[in-house]
Amino acid sequence: MFREALSALDSARRLQSFDGVSVALTGRSLKSSRRTTSSDFVKYEDKVAEGDTVIVYVGYNVMHAVEVHHGRSLTMKYGTLKHEYIIGKAYGTRIRATAGFVYILRPTSALWTKTLPRRTQILYTPDVALILTLLDVRPGSVICESGTGSGSLSHAIAMAVFPNGHLYTHDINETRVKCVEQEFKDHGLENNTTAVHANACEDGFFVENACDGVFLDLPEPWNAVGYAKRAMSRQRGGRVVSFSPCIEQVQRVHEELEKLGFVQIQTVELVPRTLKIVENESVTLEQFDANSTPTGARDAKRAADDDEPTSAKRPKLEIEKRITTTVSTSSNPVIPFPVQQPTHTGYLTSATLLPKAV
Ligand SMILES: C[S@@+](CC[C@H](N)C(=O)[O-])C[C@H]1O[C@@H](n2cnc3c(N)ncnc32)[C@H](O)[C@@H]1O
Repeated sequence: MFREALSALDSARRLQSFDGVSVALTGRSLKSSRRTTSSDFVKYEDKVAEGDTVIVYVGYNVMHAVEVHHGRSLTMKYGTLKHEYIIGKAYGTRIRATAGFVYILRPTSALWTKTLPRRTQILYTPDVALILTLLDVRPGSVICESGTGSGSLSHAIAMAVFPNGHLYTHDINETRVKCVEQEFKDHGLENNTTAVHANACEDGFFVENACDGVFLDLPEPWNAVGYAKRAMSRQRGGRVVSFSPCIEQVQRVHEELEKLGFVQIQTVELVPRTLKIVENESVTLEQFDANSTPTGARDAKRAADDDEPTSAKRPKLEIEKRITTTVSTSSNPVIPFPVQQPTHTGYLTSATLLPKAV
């Protein structure tokens, strides 16, 4: 029953990409079939068009993903912004809202991760970046993923495999599958993605002997490792990566990977720390002295500018040089920002399936 449903879905997908025109399987009509001058997550026009998804950048860590339509408005920290003021503007433009300024940015996978509608816990950009590398995702790769969750990682993979690769993403929760499927359509990623409603630990993956990498973000990933191996290309081999918050999950995944013949099994924990460069306003003793007494730097400068003989100027110029050196080493220090302890998100376990010798 599951296989039949999947193969019907697969045929529908193949037909969709065959003539290059997308047809909605569920929900609203598709961007790619309704407009030709619009931008999406992989197609760039200079100016914002009706129906585009844009990122309204309000400030550090405050931004909103908005699908712009005439007659609608966004209410946020800086008041209200009518979408019609955004439509027709170049990406990157600074726009006045009723109580401040915002910037209109193109969506990237990192900005989408910051602004997407949360349906589950999500993977954040530092983990996403490392996962793409560990999985060796590149344009043309075929990747399987489970679970889809809110589609944070799914968007990054779909954009990375574009234009001719494919992401098969699986979730046990049908509503989440439908939501991400609609988002892929809205974001121009429908021809490179298939969202599948399936239990990865019982039904396995949509493809067999076909993909280059499998990513697992599941409560019991060890139960999906056998299916992951089955999904991977025997001829090309590939990579599997599993994300788990607990070390006990990591241990069980390791055991299973080893049992099934995977090699290069490694686990890393990524603990990112954001740093900020700030201007140091502290004053050195020499500066203080220079600014508060007639001797010191100002005096040295004055002496350097007049016509005194070189031998008379030298000691004062040395004072000036020493001050400059002191200032430049103490300015622009680096501090952790925001000032807080970086938190643990999870462990990433990766392994390689070697190609089968012929
Ligand atoms: C933490 S979320 C994944 C978040 C996702 N990586 C992201 O970045 O947005 C875990 C997802 O796994 C799904 N899930 C749990 N068990 C599953 C299973 N056996 N098969 C498929 N999906 C499953 C859940 O429904 C949930 O949506």
